[in-house]
Amino acid sequence: MSPTSSIPDFRRALLAWYDREQRQLPWRTEPAPYRTLVSELMLQQTQVQTVIPYFERFLKRFPSPQALAEAEEEEVLKHWQGLGYYRRARYLQAAARQIVAEHQGRFPSEKAAIDALPGVGDYTAAAVASIGFGLPYACVDGNVIRVVSRLFALDGDTATGAVKKDIQAKAQDLLDPQRPGDFNQAVMELGATRCSPRQPSCLACPVAGHCAVNQKGLDPHIYPFKSKKVKPGKIDYQALFLFAPGRFLLAKRPEKGLMASMWELPAQESGHFIAWPEWFDGEISSRGHLAKPIIHRFTHLHATYHVAMFRSDAVLPWREGEPAGYREFRWVEEHELAQLPLTKVLQKALPLIAAAIQDERKPCPNATSTLPGL
Ligand code: ADE
Repeated sequence: MSPTSSIPDFRRALLAWYDREQRQLPWRTEPAPYRTLVSELMLQQTQVQTVIPYFERFLKRFPSPQALAEAEEEEVLKHWQGLGYYRRARYLQAAARQIVAEHQGRFPSEKAAIDALPGVGDYTAAAVASIGFGLPYACVDGNVIRVVSRLFALDGDTATGAVKKDIQAKAQDLLDPQRPGDFNQAVMELGATRCSPRQPSCLACPVAGHCAVNQKGLDPHIYPFKSKKVKPGKIDYQALFLFAPGRFLLAKRPEKGLMASMWELPAQESGHFIAWPEWFDGEISSRGHLAKPIIHRFTHLHATYHVAMFRSDAVLPWREGEPAGYREFRWVEEHELAQLPLTKVLQKALPLIAAAIQDERKPCPNATSTLPGL
């Protein structure tokens, strides 16, 4: 809010605009908690215009929690067909059944009981409480985050918990306790029609005079502020494919962290690499490298695996606990792979290794193993 504006003036300006210009939407006529729950669940992830006919059909067929609770799930899903995210429909029916079972079919009016309904998170509970029951709870969804960030020119990253909390508290301070349902919908309406993400129309905004971004001449597109995504780091691994007659060596990853407890080729980070033969008591002989490294993208990590192939004449013991970090090493036979949880990188590597070995051993017309030579 700009330094000169007052909360009561802000509420008056916003609600007067909402009373004048709100879109006529079916869930806004005769607001009632059940209708609010249905509309808010439908509106999650789905555009207003798409929801309208679904809402009308759904309410016609299931006009009360009782009617929805008694219906076959299949029929409920049929009425949801095309809206997507079908979990919402199942939650809605579970909520209706809870209302029938625990509240004699009457929608509960206490906030704690609304919170306890299946599929109802903070946002939906506040919407039902405020729109359906006139209780003073502020709704915070994406639209509200944008509006509040701009009103206060919030510079903190809205992905962080502290900023989210601050936005919730500010939205609660702004909420008009006389008309909480209308006020919440007015903020959403402002976010959807004036204070839009890419084309905010500040000239037509009913509360521009209260908006810090507007009054300070800041660029609204910067809000809500999100710090730049950290670019994924790059990491190089040296991986080992060590095979003896009939078997090859796999390593089990640590219990926690990335790909926890999955099996992979033993790998060392390039910078800390110690030549593979040093880990083993016995002769291993080099058979070269995979021609191309294997690239794998984790969310924050681009990993490149350079796979070295070695052979030994027998199953060799290796130095206990090395390379560091693995829980276990095991010489496996190919048929055991079906039982072990394998990393994606290993799944990518195995056919390439098989092809590389096969290439080397040509001609080999009747090979039955996908890992020839084992
Ligand atoms: N988006 C989420 N809830 C809404 C509502 N009640 N009206 C319009 N758009 C919405």
